[in-house]
Amino acid sequence: MGKVYVFDHPLIQHKLTYIRDVKTGTKDFRELVDEVATLMAFEITRDLPLEEVEVETPVTIAKSNVLGGKKLAIIPILRAGLGMVEGILKLIPAAKVGHVGLYRDPETLKPVEYYAKLPSDVEERDFIVVDPMLATGGSAIEAINSLKKRGAKNIKFMCLIAAPEGVEEFKVAHPDVDIFIAALDEKLNEKGYIVPGLGDAGDRMFGTK
Ligand code: PRP
Ligand code: URA
Repeated sequence: MGKVYVFDHPLIQHKLTYIRDVKTGTKDFRELVDEVATLMAFEITRDLPLEEVEVETPVTIAKSNVLGGKKLAIIPILRAGLGMVEGILKLIPAAKVGHVGLYRDPETLKPVEYYAKLPSDVEERDFIVVDPMLATGGSAIEAINSLKKRGAKNIKFMCLIAAPEGVEEFKVAHPDVDIFIAALDEKLNEKGYIVPGLGDAGDRMFGTK
């Protein structure tokens, strides 16, 4: 079964409080999501393999570590996932970026895929799928179905806020995928919104509504 990691770092929790705040406007919302994505990327890359190299310091030759050249791809779920991409690229600029476009049908709450474009070397890459919200879990589950259909194998899912209902669905659908979240909230409401959540992530990020 996939593991669920909650990043309770004080900086992440502090920034998340302002992301949740209804008084936070689009500009600050975007900046805060970007910053939290960077902080989460720091944690999520903890297990990247290293290889030892020799480096000449001004004093001597030292053995030291560099990243082992693992190929990564970040996959934002459109739209709101886009807001997390730059923050991750600050730490791993060599990562490729693919996109999966999904929207949640407001009546059925089921995800509808409208776009998918991944790096061509899918089978060689490790994937980090990003979306601020895991509510019913439908969008994340479908995005990862889409990746797996195209040959992706090693996948992590990262979001800001998750509902317990969505986490349970996700774990059943993708037991091989670990989930990394900043906060596990209380529940979903009757409209499929996370409570207390942050509202509609895409609308708050892009100023639509
Ligand atoms: C939001 C959010 C997730 C999805 C989560 O996207 O960004 O993708 O809902 O809900 P779920 O877990 O119940 O599927 P939305 O469908 O509102 O599309 P948008 O990002 O284009 O606004
Ligand atoms: N999508 C959002 O943007 N917010 C929620 O609370 C649930 C789904």
